[in-house]
Amino acid sequence: MIKAIRGMRDILPPETGRWQWVEQVAREVFDLYGYQELRLPLIERTELFARSIGPDTDIVAKEMYTFPDRRGDSLTLRPEATAQVVRAALENRLDRAPGMKKLYTIGPMFRYERPQKGRYRQFHQINCEALGADAPELDAEVILMLMEILGRVGLTQMRLSVNSLGCPECQQDFKARLKLFLQSKEGWCDDCRHRRETNPLRVLDCKSAHCQALLKDAPMLKDCQCEACAAHYGRVLELLNRFRVPFEENPRLVRGLDYYTRTAFEVAAAGLGAQDAVAGGGRYNGLSQELGGPEMPAIGFAIGQDRLMEILPPEAAPPGLAKTFLAVLGDAARDRALTLLQDLRAKGLAAEMDFEGRSLKAQMSLADRLGATYVIILGDREMETDQAVLRRMATGGQEQVALKELPVILANFITGKI
Ligand code: HAM
Repeated sequence: MIKAIRGMRDILPPETGRWQWVEQVAREVFDLYGYQELRLPLIERTELFARSIGPDTDIVAKEMYTFPDRRGDSLTLRPEATAQVVRAALENRLDRAPGMKKLYTIGPMFRYERPQKGRYRQFHQINCEALGADAPELDAEVILMLMEILGRVGLTQMRLSVNSLGCPECQQDFKARLKLFLQSKEGWCDDCRHRRETNPLRVLDCKSAHCQALLKDAPMLKDCQCEACAAHYGRVLELLNRFRVPFEENPRLVRGLDYYTRTAFEVAAAGLGAQDAVAGGGRYNGLSQELGGPEMPAIGFAIGQDRLMEILPPEAAPPGLAKTFLAVLGDAARDRALTLLQDLRAKGLAAEMDFEGRSLKAQMSLADRLGATYVIILGDREMETDQAVLRRMATGGQEQVALKELPVILANFITGKI
Protein backbone atom coordinates (compact mmCIF):
# COMPACT_ATOMS: atom_id res chain seq x y z
CA MET A 1 0.00 0.00 0.00
CA ILE A 2 1.30 3.48 -0.80
CA LYS A 3 1.90 5.57 2.30
CA ALA A 4 2.42 9.28 2.93
CA ILE A 5 5.97 10.63 2.71
CA ARG A 6 8.06 10.58 5.90
CA GLY A 7 7.52 13.74 7.95
CA MET A 8 4.20 14.47 6.25
CA ARG A 9 0.90 13.45 7.73
CA ASP A 10 -2.81 13.43 7.20
CA ILE A 11 -4.89 15.57 9.52
CA LEU A 12 -8.24 13.89 9.98
CA PRO A 13 -11.61 14.68 11.53
CA PRO A 14 -12.47 15.43 14.28
CA GLU A 15 -9.01 17.02 14.60
CA THR A 16 -9.65 19.12 11.46
CA GLY A 17 -12.57 20.74 13.30
CA ARG A 18 -10.15 21.96 15.96
CA TRP A 19 -7.76 23.25 13.29
CA GLN A 20 -10.55 25.22 11.63
CA TRP A 21 -11.58 26.68 14.95
CA VAL A 22 -8.03 27.84 15.76
CA GLU A 23 -7.75 29.41 12.32
CA GLN A 24 -11.11 31.12 12.86
CA VAL A 25 -9.94 32.57 16.18
CA ALA A 26 -6.76 33.84 14.51
CA ARG A 27 -8.78 35.38 11.68
CA GLU A 28 -11.01 37.18 14.19
CA VAL A 29 -8.01 38.65 15.99
CA PHE A 30 -6.38 39.63 12.67
CA ASP A 31 -9.63 41.43 11.76
CA LEU A 32 -9.56 43.32 15.04
CA TYR A 33 -6.07 44.56 14.30
CA GLY A 34 -6.73 45.39 10.64
CA TYR A 35 -4.93 42.52 8.90
CA GLN A 36 -6.11 41.11 5.59
CA GLU A 37 -5.50 37.72 4.05
CA LEU A 38 -3.10 36.86 1.25
CA ARG A 39 -3.20 33.47 -0.51
CA LEU A 40 0.15 32.66 -2.00
CA PRO A 41 1.70 29.89 -4.10
CA LEU A 42 3.43 27.00 -2.36
CA ILE A 43 6.35 27.08 -4.81
CA GLU A 44 8.71 29.94 -5.53
CA ARG A 45 12.01 30.47 -7.27
CA THR A 46 14.79 29.07 -5.12
CA GLU A 47 16.63 32.36 -5.31
CA LEU A 48 13.90 34.11 -3.31
CA PHE A 49 14.62 32.05 -0.21
CA ALA A 50 18.37 31.78 -0.71
CA ARG A 51 18.66 35.57 -0.84
CA SER A 52 16.32 36.41 2.01
CA ILE A 53 16.73 33.66 4.62
CA GLY A 54 20.49 33.56 4.06
CA PRO A 55 22.78 30.95 2.47
CA ASP A 56 24.38 29.94 5.77
CA THR A 57 21.18 29.22 7.64
CA ASP A 58 20.13 25.62 8.30
CA ILE A 59 16.97 26.20 6.28
CA VAL A 60 18.75 27.19 3.08
CA ALA A 61 21.86 25.03 3.53
CA LYS A 62 20.12 21.75 4.20
CA GLU A 63 16.37 21.88 4.65
CA MET A 64 14.83 23.11 1.42
CA TYR A 65 12.82 20.97 -0.98
CA THR A 66 14.49 22.22 -4.15
CA PHE A 67 14.04 20.75 -7.61
CA PRO A 68 14.39 21.75 -11.24
CA ASP A 69 11.13 22.16 -13.17
CA ARG A 70 10.77 20.85 -16.72
CA ARG A 71 12.59 23.87 -18.12
CA GLY A 72 15.42 23.48 -15.66
CA ASP A 73 14.51 26.47 -13.45
CA SER A 74 15.30 25.85 -9.79
CA LEU A 75 12.13 25.92 -7.69
CA THR A 76 11.58 25.44 -3.96
CA LEU A 77 8.60 24.45 -1.84
CA ARG A 78 8.26 27.39 0.52
CA PRO A 79 10.03 26.82 3.86
CA GLU A 80 8.43 29.97 5.32
CA ALA A 81 6.16 32.80 4.24
CA THR A 82 7.88 36.10 5.05
CA ALA A 83 10.06 36.27 1.93
CA GLN A 84 7.03 35.39 -0.19
CA VAL A 85 4.83 38.01 1.38
CA VAL A 86 7.46 40.65 0.63
CA ARG A 87 7.86 39.29 -2.93
CA ALA A 88 4.10 39.40 -3.43
CA ALA A 89 3.81 42.91 -1.97
CA LEU A 90 6.54 44.23 -4.28
CA GLU A 91 5.33 42.36 -7.35
CA ASN A 92 1.73 43.52 -6.88
CA ARG A 93 2.88 47.03 -5.96
CA LEU A 94 1.15 46.95 -2.63
CA ASP A 95 4.03 49.06 -1.35
CA ARG A 96 2.94 51.95 -3.60
CA ALA A 97 -0.40 52.43 -1.81
CA PRO A 98 -0.13 54.90 1.06
CA GLY A 99 0.12 53.66 4.63
CA MET A 100 0.95 50.34 6.13
CA LYS A 101 0.08 46.95 4.72
CA LYS A 102 -1.08 44.45 7.32
CA LEU A 103 -1.25 40.99 5.82
CA TYR A 104 -1.70 37.44 7.00
CA THR A 105 -1.51 34.04 5.43
CA ILE A 106 -2.27 30.54 6.73
CA GLY A 107 -0.99 27.34 5.19
CA PRO A 108 1.64 24.63 4.82
CA MET A 109 5.41 25.14 4.77
CA PHE A 110 8.09 22.57 3.93
CA ARG A 111 11.45 21.89 5.54
CA TYR A 112 13.52 18.77 5.16
CA GLU A 113 14.26 18.35 8.87
CA ARG A 114 14.59 15.15 10.86
CA PRO A 115 11.00 14.35 11.82
CA GLN A 116 10.25 14.07 15.54
CA LYS A 117 7.53 15.14 17.95
CA GLY A 118 6.47 18.65 16.92
CA ARG A 119 8.73 18.65 13.88
CA TYR A 120 7.38 17.75 10.46
CA ARG A 121 8.55 18.13 6.90
CA GLN A 122 5.22 19.62 5.97
CA PHE A 123 4.00 21.82 8.77
CA HIS A 124 1.56 24.69 9.00
CA GLN A 125 1.96 28.31 9.94
CA ILE A 126 -0.39 31.12 10.84
CA ASN A 127 1.73 33.94 9.59
CA CYS A 128 1.33 37.73 9.70
CA GLU A 129 3.40 40.58 8.37
CA ALA A 130 3.06 44.34 8.87
CA LEU A 131 4.87 46.15 6.06
CA GLY A 132 5.83 49.80 5.87
CA ALA A 133 6.55 51.11 9.38
CA ASP A 134 9.47 51.08 11.77
CA ALA A 135 7.64 52.44 14.84
CA PRO A 136 8.28 50.48 18.05
CA GLU A 137 4.55 50.81 18.79
CA LEU A 138 3.98 48.45 15.86
CA ASP A 139 6.43 45.91 17.31
CA ALA A 140 4.54 45.96 20.59
CA GLU A 141 1.20 45.70 18.80
CA VAL A 142 2.35 42.70 16.75
CA ILE A 143 3.53 40.91 19.91
CA LEU A 144 0.27 41.80 21.71
CA MET A 145 -1.70 40.38 18.83
CA LEU A 146 0.30 37.16 18.87
CA MET A 147 -0.26 36.74 22.60
CA GLU A 148 -3.94 37.51 22.12
CA ILE A 149 -4.35 34.71 19.57
CA LEU A 150 -2.49 32.23 21.77
CA GLY A 151 -4.50 33.31 24.82
CA ARG A 152 -7.86 33.12 23.03
CA VAL A 153 -7.30 29.54 21.94
CA GLY A 154 -6.56 28.62 25.54
CA LEU A 155 -2.78 28.39 25.77
CA THR A 156 -1.70 29.27 29.27
CA GLN A 157 1.79 28.01 29.94
CA MET A 158 3.93 30.00 27.57
CA ARG A 159 7.10 32.05 27.77
CA LEU A 160 7.73 35.03 25.56
CA SER A 161 11.41 35.87 24.98
CA VAL A 162 12.48 39.10 23.31
CA ASN A 163 15.73 40.57 22.12
CA SER A 164 16.95 43.29 19.83
CA LEU A 165 19.29 42.32 17.03
CA GLY A 166 20.10 45.95 16.16
CA CYS A 167 20.46 47.50 12.74
CA PRO A 168 23.05 46.34 10.14
CA GLU A 169 25.63 48.77 11.59
CA CYS A 170 25.20 47.43 15.15
CA GLN A 171 25.28 43.90 13.76
CA GLN A 172 28.47 44.54 11.83
CA ASP A 173 30.22 45.75 14.97
CA PHE A 174 28.83 42.86 16.98
CA LYS A 175 29.74 40.22 14.41
CA ALA A 176 33.34 41.47 14.34
CA ARG A 177 33.59 41.26 18.15
CA LEU A 178 31.88 37.88 18.24
CA LYS A 179 34.17 36.49 15.55
CA LEU A 180 37.24 37.48 17.55
CA PHE A 181 35.77 35.83 20.63
CA LEU A 182 34.90 32.64 18.73
CA GLN A 183 38.38 32.46 17.24
CA SER A 184 39.92 32.90 20.68
CA LYS A 185 38.37 29.64 21.90
CA GLU A 186 38.69 26.06 20.74
CA GLY A 187 36.34 23.11 21.08
CA TRP A 188 33.41 24.31 18.91
CA CYS A 189 31.35 21.67 17.13
CA ASP A 190 32.01 21.15 13.39
CA ASP A 191 29.03 23.29 12.41
CA CYS A 192 30.11 26.16 14.64
CA ARG A 193 33.71 26.03 13.42
CA HIS A 194 32.29 26.67 9.97
CA ARG A 195 29.71 29.19 11.18
CA ARG A 196 32.21 31.31 13.08
CA GLU A 197 33.77 32.17 9.72
CA THR A 198 30.66 32.46 7.56
CA ASN A 199 27.92 33.63 9.89
CA PRO A 200 29.03 34.03 13.53
CA LEU A 201 25.52 34.97 14.78
CA ARG A 202 24.40 31.41 14.04
CA VAL A 203 26.82 30.08 16.66
CA LEU A 204 24.67 31.74 19.35
CA ASP A 205 21.82 29.56 18.15
CA CYS A 206 23.75 26.25 18.36
CA LYS A 207 21.85 23.50 20.14
CA SER A 208 25.00 21.79 21.49
CA ALA A 209 25.33 22.16 25.26
CA HIS A 210 29.10 22.22 24.87
CA CYS A 211 29.01 25.20 22.48
CA GLN A 212 26.50 26.96 24.74
CA ALA A 213 28.90 26.53 27.67
CA LEU A 214 31.77 27.97 25.61
CA LEU A 215 29.57 30.96 24.82
CA LYS A 216 29.24 31.93 28.48
CA ASP A 217 31.42 35.03 28.24
CA ALA A 218 30.64 35.89 24.64
CA PRO A 219 29.96 39.55 23.85
CA MET A 220 26.33 40.63 23.91
CA LEU A 221 24.45 42.26 21.08
CA LYS A 222 23.11 44.73 23.57
CA ASP A 223 26.59 46.15 24.16
CA CYS A 224 26.99 46.98 20.47
CA GLN A 225 23.68 48.74 20.00
CA CYS A 226 23.50 52.27 18.59
CA GLU A 227 21.38 54.86 20.38
CA ALA A 228 18.49 54.66 17.93
CA CYS A 229 18.26 50.85 18.22
CA ALA A 230 18.50 51.00 22.00
CA ALA A 231 15.71 53.61 22.16
CA HIS A 232 13.54 51.55 19.79
CA TYR A 233 13.99 48.44 21.91
CA GLY A 234 13.41 50.38 25.16
CA ARG A 235 10.07 51.65 23.85
CA VAL A 236 8.98 48.13 22.81
CA LEU A 237 9.73 46.79 26.30
CA GLU A 238 8.00 49.76 27.93
CA LEU A 239 4.82 49.06 25.96
CA LEU A 240 4.92 45.34 26.70
CA ASN A 241 5.11 46.26 30.37
CA ARG A 242 2.29 48.78 30.04
CA PHE A 243 0.02 46.12 28.53
CA ARG A 244 1.13 43.60 31.14
CA VAL A 245 2.46 41.08 28.67
CA PRO A 246 4.76 38.79 30.65
CA PHE A 247 8.09 38.44 28.86
CA GLU A 248 11.73 37.83 29.50
CA GLU A 249 14.67 39.39 27.75
CA ASN A 250 16.97 36.85 26.15
CA PRO A 251 20.13 38.59 24.95
CA ARG A 252 21.20 35.42 23.11
CA LEU A 253 18.04 35.04 21.03
CA VAL A 254 19.06 35.26 17.36
CA ARG A 255 16.44 33.22 15.43
CA GLY A 256 17.20 30.85 12.57
CA LEU A 257 16.76 33.25 9.63
CA ASP A 258 19.20 35.98 8.61
CA TYR A 259 16.84 38.78 7.68
CA TYR A 260 16.06 40.00 11.19
CA THR A 261 16.95 43.48 12.42
CA ARG A 262 16.02 45.07 15.77
CA THR A 263 13.17 43.33 17.63
CA ALA A 264 13.16 39.51 17.60
CA PHE A 265 10.94 37.26 19.71
CA GLU A 266 9.92 33.69 20.33
CA VAL A 267 7.21 31.98 22.34
CA ALA A 268 8.05 28.66 23.99
CA ALA A 269 5.27 26.53 25.40
CA ALA A 270 5.21 23.78 27.99
CA GLY A 271 4.37 20.27 26.82
CA LEU A 272 6.27 20.28 23.54
CA GLY A 273 9.52 18.65 24.57
CA ALA A 274 12.67 19.64 22.67
CA GLN A 275 10.81 21.53 19.93
CA ASP A 276 9.18 23.99 22.28
CA ALA A 277 8.96 27.11 20.08
CA VAL A 278 5.32 27.56 19.21
CA ALA A 279 5.80 30.93 17.51
CA GLY A 280 8.58 33.24 16.45
CA GLY A 281 9.09 36.47 14.63
CA GLY A 282 10.72 39.82 14.43
CA ARG A 283 11.54 42.88 12.43
CA TYR A 284 13.19 42.68 9.03
CA ASN A 285 13.80 46.25 7.88
CA GLY A 286 16.23 45.37 5.09
CA LEU A 287 14.42 42.49 3.39
CA SER A 288 12.58 44.53 0.77
CA GLN A 289 15.82 46.12 -0.45
CA GLU A 290 17.52 42.74 -0.36
CA LEU A 291 14.89 41.60 -2.87
CA GLY A 292 15.35 44.63 -5.10
CA GLY A 293 12.49 46.70 -3.67
CA PRO A 294 12.38 50.11 -2.00
CA GLU A 295 13.00 50.71 1.67
CA MET A 296 10.13 49.02 3.52
CA PRO A 297 10.61 48.39 7.23
CA ALA A 298 8.48 45.49 8.42
CA ILE A 299 7.77 43.07 11.25
CA GLY A 300 5.84 39.84 11.60
CA PHE A 301 5.52 36.44 13.20
CA ALA A 302 4.53 32.88 12.48
CA ILE A 303 2.71 30.49 14.79
CA GLY A 304 3.57 26.81 14.27
CA GLN A 305 0.03 25.48 14.05
CA ASP A 306 0.96 21.78 14.37
CA ARG A 307 2.72 22.49 17.65
CA LEU A 308 -0.08 24.73 18.85
CA MET A 309 -2.65 21.98 18.19
CA GLU A 310 -0.56 19.50 20.12
CA ILE A 311 -0.61 21.50 23.35
CA LEU A 312 -4.05 23.01 23.27
CA PRO A 313 -5.96 22.01 26.38
CA PRO A 314 -8.74 19.50 25.61
CA GLU A 315 -11.39 21.94 26.73
CA ALA A 316 -10.25 24.32 23.99
CA ALA A 317 -12.58 23.15 21.27
CA PRO A 318 -14.91 24.59 18.71
CA PRO A 319 -18.51 24.91 19.87
CA GLY A 320 -20.13 21.75 18.48
CA LEU A 321 -22.93 22.24 16.00
CA ALA A 322 -26.13 20.59 17.18
CA LYS A 323 -26.96 17.75 14.81
CA THR A 324 -30.25 16.10 14.04
CA PHE A 325 -30.59 12.51 12.85
CA LEU A 326 -33.70 11.28 11.07
CA ALA A 327 -34.45 7.66 11.97
CA VAL A 328 -37.07 6.06 9.73
CA LEU A 329 -39.21 2.93 9.79
CA GLY A 330 -40.77 1.87 6.50
CA ASP A 331 -40.51 3.01 2.87
CA ALA A 332 -43.12 5.78 3.00
CA ALA A 333 -41.42 7.31 6.04
CA ARG A 334 -38.00 7.02 4.37
CA ASP A 335 -39.26 8.89 1.34
CA ARG A 336 -40.95 11.60 3.43
CA ALA A 337 -37.76 11.98 5.47
CA LEU A 338 -35.76 12.93 2.36
CA THR A 339 -37.87 16.08 2.03
CA LEU A 340 -37.66 16.80 5.74
CA LEU A 341 -33.88 16.41 5.59
CA GLN A 342 -33.57 19.13 2.97
CA ASP A 343 -36.12 21.34 4.82
CA LEU A 344 -33.97 21.17 7.96
CA ARG A 345 -30.78 21.95 6.05
CA ALA A 346 -32.51 24.86 4.33
CA LYS A 347 -33.20 26.24 7.81
CA GLY A 348 -29.46 26.01 8.57
CA LEU A 349 -29.79 22.90 10.74
CA ALA A 350 -27.24 20.10 10.37
CA ALA A 351 -29.16 16.91 9.60
CA GLU A 352 -28.39 13.38 8.44
CA MET A 353 -30.17 10.10 7.84
CA ASP A 354 -29.33 6.54 6.89
CA PHE A 355 -29.67 5.56 3.21
CA GLU A 356 -28.79 1.91 3.64
CA GLY A 357 -31.92 0.47 5.21
CA ARG A 358 -30.54 -0.14 8.70
CA SER A 359 -32.88 -1.34 11.46
CA LEU A 360 -34.25 1.27 13.86
CA LYS A 361 -31.87 0.05 16.55
CA ALA A 362 -28.88 0.35 14.21
CA GLN A 363 -30.03 3.83 13.17
CA MET A 364 -30.21 4.89 16.82
CA SER A 365 -26.66 3.71 17.48
CA LEU A 366 -25.49 5.43 14.30
CA ALA A 367 -27.09 8.67 15.56
CA ASP A 368 -25.20 8.20 18.81
CA ARG A 369 -21.89 7.65 17.00
CA LEU A 370 -22.45 10.75 14.89
CA GLY A 371 -22.99 12.77 18.06
CA ALA A 372 -26.58 13.74 17.22
CA THR A 373 -28.25 16.05 19.73
CA TYR A 374 -31.74 15.22 18.46
CA VAL A 375 -33.23 12.23 16.71
CA ILE A 376 -36.50 12.43 14.82
CA ILE A 377 -38.25 9.10 14.58
CA LEU A 378 -40.57 8.76 11.68
CA GLY A 379 -42.62 5.57 11.16
CA ASP A 380 -45.62 4.74 9.02
CA ARG A 381 -47.89 5.26 12.06
CA GLU A 382 -46.55 8.79 12.63
CA MET A 383 -46.92 9.51 8.91
CA GLU A 384 -50.66 8.81 9.06
CA THR A 385 -51.11 11.60 11.57
CA ASP A 386 -48.42 13.87 10.09
CA GLN A 387 -46.47 13.58 13.30
CA ALA A 388 -42.98 12.53 14.33
CA VAL A 389 -41.28 11.66 17.61
CA LEU A 390 -38.57 14.07 18.68
CA ARG A 391 -36.00 12.56 21.03
CA ARG A 392 -33.33 14.46 22.92
CA MET A 393 -30.31 12.22 23.04
CA ALA A 394 -28.81 13.71 26.20
CA THR A 395 -31.86 13.02 28.38
CA GLY A 396 -33.75 10.37 26.41
CA GLY A 397 -36.88 12.57 26.70
CA GLN A 398 -39.37 12.22 23.82
CA GLU A 399 -42.34 14.14 22.52
CA GLN A 400 -44.75 14.04 19.56
CA VAL A 401 -44.54 16.99 17.19
CA ALA A 402 -46.35 17.93 14.01
CA LEU A 403 -44.18 17.28 10.94
CA LYS A 404 -44.77 20.65 9.36
CA GLU A 405 -43.71 22.44 12.53
CA LEU A 406 -40.58 20.37 13.01
CA PRO A 407 -38.04 22.64 11.30
CA VAL A 408 -39.22 25.66 13.32
CA ILE A 409 -39.39 23.74 16.61
CA LEU A 410 -35.89 22.34 16.10
CA ALA A 411 -34.48 25.68 15.07
CA ASN A 412 -35.89 27.17 18.28
CA PHE A 413 -34.43 24.38 20.39
CA ILE A 414 -31.04 24.80 18.83
CA THR A 415 -30.90 28.56 19.12
CA GLY A 416 -32.01 28.18 22.73
CA LYS A 417 -35.35 29.98 22.33
CA ILE A 418 -37.20 27.14 23.99
P1 HAM B 1 10.41 30.18 12.33
O1 HAM B 1 10.87 30.43 13.72
O2 HAM B 1 11.36 29.50 11.42
O3 HAM B 1 10.02 31.59 11.75
O4 HAM B 1 9.06 29.37 12.34
C1 HAM B 1 7.96 29.80 13.10
C2 HAM B 1 7.30 28.63 13.82
O5 HAM B 1 7.00 27.60 12.88
C3 HAM B 1 8.22 27.95 14.85
O6 HAM B 1 8.19 28.63 16.08
C4 HAM B 1 7.55 26.57 14.95
O7 HAM B 1 6.45 26.61 15.85
C5 HAM B 1 7.03 26.33 13.55
N1 HAM B 1 7.92 25.40 12.85
C6 HAM B 1 9.08 25.66 12.23
N2 HAM B 1 9.60 24.53 11.69
C7 HAM B 1 8.75 23.53 11.97
C8 HAM B 1 8.70 22.12 11.68
N3 HAM B 1 9.65 21.52 10.97
N4 HAM B 1 7.65 21.39 12.16
C9 HAM B 1 6.67 21.98 12.87
N5 HAM B 1 6.65 23.32 13.15
C10 HAM B 1 7.68 24.07 12.71
C11 HAM B 1 9.59 31.81 10.48
O8 HAM B 1 9.25 30.96 9.71
C12 HAM B 1 9.45 33.28 10.15
N6 HAM B 1 9.01 33.40 8.74
C13 HAM B 1 8.49 33.96 11.09
C14 HAM B 1 8.31 35.42 10.77
C15 HAM B 1 7.23 35.98 10.19
N7 HAM B 1 9.18 36.37 11.01
C16 HAM B 1 8.70 37.52 10.58
N8 HAM B 1 7.53 37.29 10.07
